[in-house]
Amino acid sequence: MQYRLLGLCAAALGAFAPLVAAQECDRASIQAFADDYVAAHETGSLSNLQNISEDFTYVENNKTAEITTSILSKALAIAHRHTIVDTVDCASYSELIVTHDAAGAPAPYVIGTQIRHTPEDLSVYLIDLTVSTTGSWLFNSTRTLEYASKENWSLIDEDKRDTREALRQAADAYLDMWNNKSAIDAVPWGTPCVRLEGSVYTGSGLPTDSCKVGIPTNNNQAPNSHRRYVTDVTYGSISVLCIFEHLANAPDSHEFRMENGKLRYIHTITLANSGFFAAELPQPQPAPPARYRIRGDSSARQG
Ligand SMILES: *[C@@H]1O[C@H](CO)[C@@H](O)[C@H](O)[C@H]1NC(C)=O
Ligand SMILES: *[C@@H]1O[C@H](CO)[C@@H](O)[C@H](O)[C@H]1NC(C)=O
Ligand SMILES: *[C@@H]1O[C@H](CO)[C@@H](O)[C@H](O)[C@H]1NC(C)=O
Ligand SMILES: *[C@@H]1O[C@H](CO)[C@@H](O)[C@H](O)[C@H]1NC(C)=O
Ligand SMILES: *[C@@H]1O[C@H](CO)[C@@H](O)[C@H](O)[C@H]1NC(C)=O
Repeated sequence: MQYRLLGLCAAALGAFAPLVAAQECDRASIQAFADDYVAAHETGSLSNLQNISEDFTYVENNKTAEITTSILSKALAIAHRHTIVDTVDCASYSELIVTHDAAGAPAPYVIGTQIRHTPEDLSVYLIDLTVSTTGSWLFNSTRTLEYASKENWSLIDEDKRDTREALRQAADAYLDMWNNKSAIDAVPWGTPCVRLEGSVYTGSGLPTDSCKVGIPTNNNQAPNSHRRYVTDVTYGSISVLCIFEHLANAPDSHEFRMENGKLRYIHTITLANSGFFAAELPQPQPAPPARYRIRGDSSARQG
C-alpha cells in the first residue's frame, strides 16, 4: 500500500516537475567542502578532502593536472578568503590571497577556485583553479590584499537581491565588450564601482569611482571564451573563469559583485604572458606597461 501511494505521489509530482524549481543543493555541505579545501591549502595536505568523485578532475590554469603535486601540496598562510556558494549548480567559488607560506617565507599567490559537486551525492568532480603569482598580470598580492580587505562584500538583504539572470547578464555583457561594442551599454555600470585588476585599483574611495576606466575601445578582438560560472544571489556575486583569447589565450578569473542592480566591485586574476608559464614561453616578458584595457586593445601588445 505504502509503495503504491508513494508511486502515485511520485507520478503526480512528476507531472508538475517542469513547474516547480529544481531541488537546491545543500549550501552548508558545499560551504563545508570549501572550508576543507582552504584548510588543505593551509596544511599542504589533502587528507581531509572527503567525498571526492570517482571521476574527479583537477584543473590549474586551464590544464588538467595532478592534485597531489599541485599548489595544494604547499602549506600557505591564507591572508584573505572569500567564498560564494551556488545552490542551483552545486558549486562554490573561493578567492584566496596569499603573501606568505605557513612558515612565514614569501609565497605570493592570488587564487580563484571553482569547485563543482555532483547534485545527487554532492561528491566533488572538479576543482578548477586560476592561480596567479609573480609575473602574472599586474601581480602584487600584498597590494591586492590591501585593496580587497577594505571592500564590503557582505550578505545582501533578502529584499534587495538581484536575480541569477541579472548577475549572469551583467557578467556576460562585461566579458563581451572585447568583441561586441553594443555590450558596453548592456553592462549595468554602478557608481561607485571599482575594479581590482591584479593589484591595480580603479577606484580611490570616492562616490564617483567608475569601473569604466580602461574598458576596451577596440571591440573587435577575439572573445573571452570557455566561460564557467558560479552564482550566489545572497552575496550578489558571480564568478566566471574563462579564456582571454585576445591575450594569448590567458586563463582568467572575473568575479562581479552587484548591489541594487548595478556593478559595485570587479576582481580579476589573469595569467597573461609575463613569465609564469616560463616553460611554455619563448622568454619571460616584461611586466605589462599599463592596465590591459587602458588603450582597449590587449591584442596589440601580444602581437
Ligand atoms: C560526505 O558525504 C556524506 C554522505 O553523503 C555526508 O554525510 C558528509 O557530510 C559529506 N562530507 C562532506 C565533507 O561533504
Ligand atoms: C582550455 O581552454 C580551452 C578553450 O580555450 C578548452 O577547450 C579546453 O578544454 C580547456 N582545458 C581544460 C582542461 O579545461
Ligand atoms: C607590492 O606592493 C606593496 C604594497 O603596496 C609594496 O610595498 C611593494 O613594494 C610591491 N612590490 C613590488 C615588487 O612592486
Ligand atoms: C557592508 O554593507 C552592508 C550593506 O550592504 C551594511 O549593512 C554594512 O554595515 C556594511 N559593513 C561595513 C563594515 O561597512
Ligand atoms: C552584442 O551585445 C548586445 C548587448 O548585450 C546583444 O544584444 C547582441 O546580441 C550582441 N551581439 C552579438 C553578435 O553577440
